[in-house]
Amino acid sequence: MKRSEPARRGSGQGPTDPGLLARPLDFISEDHLRERQICAEIDRLVAAETFDRPAGVTILRFLNEELGVHLRDEVEDLFPTLARRCTDEDSIASVLGRIRHDQEQALSLLPSVRGAIANCLDAGADLSSEDREVLARFAAHVRRHLVAENAILLPIARARLTRGDLRRLANHMRLRRGLPTSQGVTSAE
Ligand SMILES: [Fe+2]
Repeated sequence: MKRSEPARRGSGQGPTDPGLLARPLDFISEDHLRERQICAEIDRLVAAETFDRPAGVTILRFLNEELGVHLRDEVEDLFPTLARRCTDEDSIASVLGRIRHDQEQALSLLPSVRGAIANCLDAGADLSSEDREVLARFAAHVRRHLVAENAILLPIARARLTRGDLRRLANHMRLRRGLPTSQGVTSAE
């Protein structure tokens, strides 16, 4: 696991490398690998009899520090830009509607998911059967949203977004992370 670079492409093992922000669609795609990795961790937590504390800490940290900013990248920037750039043939409105629905469902479960994991960490308890059900539902919604985004939205975005759109997207994503903006944004391809 020890490599010279801090975050390898495609591993989903740690937070996405900010060096990828120059190619914002690649960054979002990498965030989705990370989300998939966390969903697998949640599945393991749900299936395990005894609560896995290190996994709980990893998941809670992702929920608190990474998921919110990823969803804002999409809801505040990627989705509106796509809606502006797409033609009627892309049927983007209905796709965005379905994805937003899954995001909202996941977000509505988020406080319970956080609470369940934090309680296990604080009290040294195991997940209750209700906790397991909430975590499983949460992971299912997150997975559905990222599958639809990878299969439909990102390919359309790569085809339709202009260099100016990508530059704006990258700069807003940098600002959201407290990083300086850059003029040297390149195409996503
Ligand atoms: Fe996403």
